[in-house]
Amino acid sequence: MLFLDACRFQNHSRPPAWIMRQAGRYLPEYRQLRETYSFVELCTTPELAVEVSLQPLRRFGFDAVIVFYDILFLPEAMGAPLEFTEEGPVFKRPVRSLADVDGLHPPDLHALDPRKGTGAILETLRRLRADVPPDTALLGFAGAPFTVAAYLIEGGFKRSGDRMKRAMYEEPRTVHRLLEQLTECTGEYLAAQVEAGADSVQLFDTWAGLLGPADYHEFAQPYERAVLARVASTGAPSILYVNGGPHLLGEMALSGASVLSIDWRMPLPTARSIVKERVGLQGNLDPYALFAPPAQVRTQVASVLESLRGDRGYVFNLGHGILPETPVESVEAIVETVRAWRP
Ligand code: CP3
Repeated sequence: MLFLDACRFQNHSRPPAWIMRQAGRYLPEYRQLRETYSFVELCTTPELAVEVSLQPLRRFGFDAVIVFYDILFLPEAMGAPLEFTEEGPVFKRPVRSLADVDGLHPPDLHALDPRKGTGAILETLRRLRADVPPDTALLGFAGAPFTVAAYLIEGGFKRSGDRMKRAMYEEPRTVHRLLEQLTECTGEYLAAQVEAGADSVQLFDTWAGLLGPADYHEFAQPYERAVLARVASTGAPSILYVNGGPHLLGEMALSGASVLSIDWRMPLPTARSIVKERVGLQGNLDPYALFAPPAQVRTQVASVLESLRGDRGYVFNLGHGILPETPVESVEAIVETVRAWRP
């Protein structure tokens, strides 16, 4: 399988390709289901989540299927009430004190009710395992402790990370206690996803790029390492994604991830010179590049592929999730270009 070969640094063929948020609002068939069902219903009803996860595979033939779910259902199952509003997800009772942290608890990993557990993602993975072709990877995922803690502390979707960064300095003990709790649950959660059939899992530390190297070293990387070590104990390879993190890449390479997923801010060959051999790289076309005409998308994809020609540990992806207004033709252009590519 191309994807697992690349994770193991043994891919001698064209790179595998998938894209973050490949199931979602840019697809007419997804929008049609959303007329009937809420986002939460789609994620937590296994037959619907299977259907949505498979939509991009049917249309484009990607090399990986990522299970349809969200990183914030795990903290919800740990006791933090969550609402998906028009502006995005919001925690109704943000974490503001040690008592709030101690009010969180490990989820019941097998309860199908999303407020109690995360059984829906496990059941969706088991069903997908039967439907995903053997040459296509099945991916699970979770939010990394730092990123999920930032959501819990902020309460809502704010890019600045203002409250989280203040809390790191004002109440480091509370923040570390929260990170420890999340680490324990996230490791077990990802191991359960592998047991349910995931070939690999991606850990999203989307917000860790807000940190300078010393803070990353204290508040993000030790927790990534612990989670990824639990994944490694299952034998499955892992992917670590950080947005805005080129300055952290050397440290990210020590996290234990099999593959590092990077955004568009650093050219892949520069990234490769920093992480050296053995650690895979995933990325890194800017999602906005897909608003160019298809011919230009082809050229851009080809130039990303050319930049790591011959690399045995490379997975094509975007530098962040695909945007809801993206033309479907651009995604077709990606897949055609990657499939026609000869190393
Ligand atoms: O990649 C995939 O196709 C798998 C599904 C997936 C979703 N969210 C579905 C989703 C994954 C892997 C995620 C990860 C996720 N969720 C992250 C980390 C990666 C990143 O993009 O930064 C974060 C920070 C979240 C939290 C989250 N969920 C936000 C901030 C939002 C609102 C923003 C938005 O795009 O609407 C969501 C909602 C969400 N998660 C949608 C999807 C398809 C949109 C829901 C809809 O209205 O249909």
